[in-house]
Amino acid sequence: MKKMLLLILLLLTGLVSIKAQTAEELKGKSIFKENKCTGCHAIETQGFLKKGKSSAPDLSDIGSKLKADFLKKYLKKEESQNDLKHPINFKGSNEDFVVLTDWLVTLKKQEPVDTLKSK
Ligand code: HEC
Repeated sequence: MKKMLLLILLLLTGLVSIKAQTAEELKGKSIFKENKCTGCHAIETQGFLKKGKSSAPDLSDIGSKLKADFLKKYLKKEESQNDLKHPINFKGSNEDFVVLTDWLVTLKKQEPVDTLKSK
């Protein structure tokens, strides 16, 4: 009986942590939208499709490209890439900024191993 209870407890904590994770993801996504990032950027893997003619890159694989520390500075215009600063400075709250950037660095395209080799 005790074992059964333990098992149920383990299952429940597992479920709760999965739910917490998706909540953070949803929050990241909505902050991205609220701050008009979608006006320039697509993230196709997240259902944000390209709009208009902006040259801003798709961010579906940004987590493989940039580290969190750099990304945070870049979006506050404290760092540049290829001698360019990001066109806009993040204007939302600090709390939103942390959720947004933590979410962005989790975005990675998953590719089959053999297509990676041919690059
Ligand atoms: C006015 C258009 C515009 C808006 C709005 C905008 N960006 Fe950008 N962003 C760009 C452009 C253009 C670049 C590429 C700059 C370059 O080539 O150096 C870029 C680059 C980036 C990069 C680096 C991409 C890479 O592949 O290195 C990230 C990350 C990023 N933006 C995140 C955001 C986030 C998050 C928001 C919302 C808070 C946002 N951007 C809002 C235009 C925009």
